[in-house]
Amino acid sequence: QPPGLIDAYGRRIDYLRLSVTDRCDLRCSYCLPKGFKGFEEPEHWLRFDEIERVVGVFARLGVSRLRLTGGEPLLRRHLADLAARLSALPGVEDLSLSTNATQLAEQAVALRQAGVRRLNVSLDSLRAERFAQITGRNALAAVLDGLAAAHAAGFGPIKLNMVVQAGVNEDEVAEMVRFSQQQGFILRLIETMPVGDTGRQAGFLDLQQLLQQLAVEFDLQPAALELGGGPARYWRSRDGRFTVGAITPISQRFCASCNRVRLSVDGTLYLCLGQNDKLALRPLLRAGISDADLEQAILHAIAQKPEKHEFREQPQKVVRFMSATGG
Ligand code: GTP
Ligand code: 5AD
Ligand code: SF4
Repeated sequence: QPPGLIDAYGRRIDYLRLSVTDRCDLRCSYCLPKGFKGFEEPEHWLRFDEIERVVGVFARLGVSRLRLTGGEPLLRRHLADLAARLSALPGVEDLSLSTNATQLAEQAVALRQAGVRRLNVSLDSLRAERFAQITGRNALAAVLDGLAAAHAAGFGPIKLNMVVQAGVNEDEVAEMVRFSQQQGFILRLIETMPVGDTGRQAGFLDLQQLLQQLAVEFDLQPAALELGGGPARYWRSRDGRFTVGAITPISQRFCASCNRVRLSVDGTLYLCLGQNDKLALRPLLRAGISDADLEQAILHAIAQKPEKHEFREQPQKVVRFMSATGG
């Protein structure tokens, strides 16, 4: 057992979020601006062999959790082939995917067969018009089809990610809770983060009060559940049959227990979602770096991982859009 990736604050990094494309078929208001043109050139995308190599090195260094993100990951051609290669790597135990589900109906079975174990699906509204207003596309029906297909393909409890925006969908939270309860989804409420101008312009809502109200209305109690590798905190109904999660980076910072870093489609290792610290791996890979030197470069970068985000203190800091790292 190698010592693993331990950062300067004693945190063990065992979770890599891998963005396989920065493109998306939606334009969620808090993420990608309408008319955005600054996507990465295909020559800059890490190829599957490059991704496999980097993930292999991370896995040897103790990363066991891998999440495919975007942009929208299902837009990357042959994603299931990549998933199969990654899930077969020694040390990769938990391969998961975060998607907007517009194309999930077509891909759910192949992804499941490729070894993707868990799915998180973005869903901010169950009202078709509002969904279209938030995402820029009238695609709610496709998303619901995708969810049904994923359930049928045998994915375990699917999580729904709801970014709660003040004045946009905050009035729909209880409805989303009931929907998730009926359909067997784990709903996670997310505070809007000031990542990119889009994230800053969206209506941030502190979720603490809302969570207290939900706890009363749905008889929920805080539960020390580990339902993945992420920062969510969970509440469970008294009968144990229903779970709601909250991701509250701003009202309740969780950086002290951070276990993750991100790799973007162009091969940049981002050390914190809320900071700009990074290491460009693509030039190293394409200059023929050895595995040993790649390991050293990654170890060195992890030692520079920032202690925490400063979303409250310095909300202007992160210029890139959320679509660059997939959250
Ligand atoms: P699980 O393994 O199921 O726990 O997944 P996850 O919550 O790690 O992944 P997901 O892609 O579903 O992310 C849900 C939300 O959490 C998104 O809004 C992410 O931006 C946010 N999130 C994930 N990791 C971090 C993090 O390190 N810092 C912050 N501030 N937010 C994060
Ligand atoms: N703040 C919080 N969450 C965000 N996501 C995208 N942009 C933001 C933001 N500015 C979420 C998506 C998706 C997850 C991976 O990240 O809704 O569910
Ligand atoms: Fe980790 Fe940075 Fe996220 Fe905090 S904001 S949990 S330090 S990645």
